[in-house]
Amino acid sequence: MEAVTITLDGVEVSGYGGMTILDLARESGVHIPTLCHDPNLTSIGACRLCLVDDERSGALLASCVAPLASGMVINTHSPRVVEHRKAILKLMLASHPDSCLVCDKGNRCQLRQLAADMGIGLIEFQRIPQLGVIEEVNPFIQRDLSKCILCGKCIRADQELVVEGAIDYIHRGSAAKPATLNDMPLEKSECTFCGTCVAICPTGAIMEKEKTYTGTTATMVETVCPYCGCGCTLCLGVKDGRIVRARPSVESPVNRGTLCVRGCYGYDFIHSPERLSRPLVKVDGEFQETTWEQALSQVAAEFKQIR
Ligand code: SF4
Ligand code: SF4
Ligand code: SF4
Ligand code: FES
Repeated sequence: MEAVTITLDGVEVSGYGGMTILDLARESGVHIPTLCHDPNLTSIGACRLCLVDDERSGALLASCVAPLASGMVINTHSPRVVEHRKAILKLMLASHPDSCLVCDKGNRCQLRQLAADMGIGLIEFQRIPQLGVIEEVNPFIQRDLSKCILCGKCIRADQELVVEGAIDYIHRGSAAKPATLNDMPLEKSECTFCGTCVAICPTGAIMEKEKTYTGTTATMVETVCPYCGCGCTLCLGVKDGRIVRARPSVESPVNRGTLCVRGCYGYDFIHSPERLSRPLVKVDGEFQETTWEQALSQVAAEFKQIR
């Protein structure tokens, strides 16, 4: 593939044709904030937070969709870029509810993290109240679209990764939102409650219902889903010795940021008091607890008898 050389923050770096500025920046260890970009999804340039300055053309480019062009002189943190990013983020926050304190996304919220990183506190813009309806009839997912920033990640994940097509944009302008066909409740749509959109949403607009208000988990344990032979990689959030949420691994080449409903929500059995945690042997027709050594010896002895 043909090499393309650009100047990135004063340093000459080379990528190849077809790469975006964001791809090369990440490869070169340069951080550019993003909200709507996900490496497993088609980039659509929705949020514009990844803006960079092209000195040669004077244009501000959304780096996640702007392809490399030879000779570009890109600044990722010029005062102009930072000012525009802040203005974009403030506009998002101006139409966002002040509900961080009671929002379960809490410290996992990318919108809140970015606002903190950019030093944004009070917003001078006029606030636009969002009167979202919280949908929670279904057993798994709670949607509060007043917190939606229209990044489109849930829609792309649903269509490109899960290939379900349960949700898409509905309406236009300030009324636009991700929704099912005719804005039906999720349980009346094609949705399989795989939780992929929950995992990928950068804000608290789509949340798991069961585990709401369990707080931020300090420990994430990577493991393999125990259900089928696909072998999806799970990241289990653990708090006080209990699993409080399951997330798909974004890096896993097997599931690339997705799970099905079993992997995402079917882990209650782990903490069930009825779960078998020791082997049982039948003695006089009754099951009795035993040790693994005794159980395995007994199985081996029985096998030997019928060999
Ligand atoms: S989605 Fe993020 S910014 Fe919005 S209320 Fe929740 S924590 Fe706060
Ligand atoms: S619901 Fe979440 S993922 Fe979907 S568009 Fe809104 S903010 Fe993005
Ligand atoms: S839970 Fe899964 S199937 Fe349902 S809308 Fe989200 S991504 Fe689509
Ligand atoms: S991350 Fe590039 S436009 Fe959103």
